[in-house]
Amino acid sequence: MQKKRLVLCVTGASGAYYAKTFLEVALELDISLDCIFSENGKRVFAFETDQSFIEFKRSLEKIGVNFHEPSDLFSPLASGSVLSSYDGVVVLPCSVGTLGAVANGVVSNLIHRVCDVAIKEGVPLILGVREMPQNPIHLENMLKLQKMGVKAFVLSPGFYGKPKTLEDLYLFTVGKILDLLKIKHEIYKRWKKT
Ligand SMILES: Cc1cc2nc3c(=O)[nH]c(=O)nc-3n(C[C@H](O)[C@H](O)[C@H](O)COP(=O)(O)O)c2cc1C
Repeated sequence: MQKKRLVLCVTGASGAYYAKTFLEVALELDISLDCIFSENGKRVFAFETDQSFIEFKRSLEKIGVNFHEPSDLFSPLASGSVLSSYDGVVVLPCSVGTLGAVANGVVSNLIHRVCDVAIKEGVPLILGVREMPQNPIHLENMLKLQKMGVKAFVLSPGFYGKPKTLEDLYLFTVGKILDLLKIKHEIYKRWKKT
């Protein structure tokens, strides 16, 4: 069977561990990954994980993850003919700034472009938004995207699986995203009344 191919976009919203967990799980599932970290995504990632982004990136490149600079609009991912061969684009975590750009067709970096192209090419697009509380602009932007078939939602892990650790909460969120992409996994406990 052909490997699944995903693009993971990481923006400067809080929630670097969601992105880190997504990467770890995707690699375990043998998914081929292309990553784009926005400039503030790199900084927030380093701040929240106490890890150098450059070293993190290097370690992943060694095992075959492709990184693209957010300023590189010459990247192959900016092209519909390339992106249409992918199984999905995930923005995790997604800032309300990137949400606003995507919902309104404003393209000022490669993440925005990839999302814009995903919508036009019908590539599954998922935005895991992180902000609290939301203002009407955020809510309207999410609704606008949902109406186009984009899964744009506020990250909201469930507690019915009785999480014991923070990692359980990240895994729940990543698992739900993989479910939306119809990628099989067993990383969180599905609802079953015991
Ligand atoms: C530590 C830190 C945490 C942040 N958390 C959020 C957040 O949860 N949600 C959000 O929308 N923006 C958050 N921001 C602000 C974004 O990083 C900022 O608006 C940035 O311009 C977003 O651009 P980007 O989407 O290209 O990364 C945070 C910034 C910092 C420094």
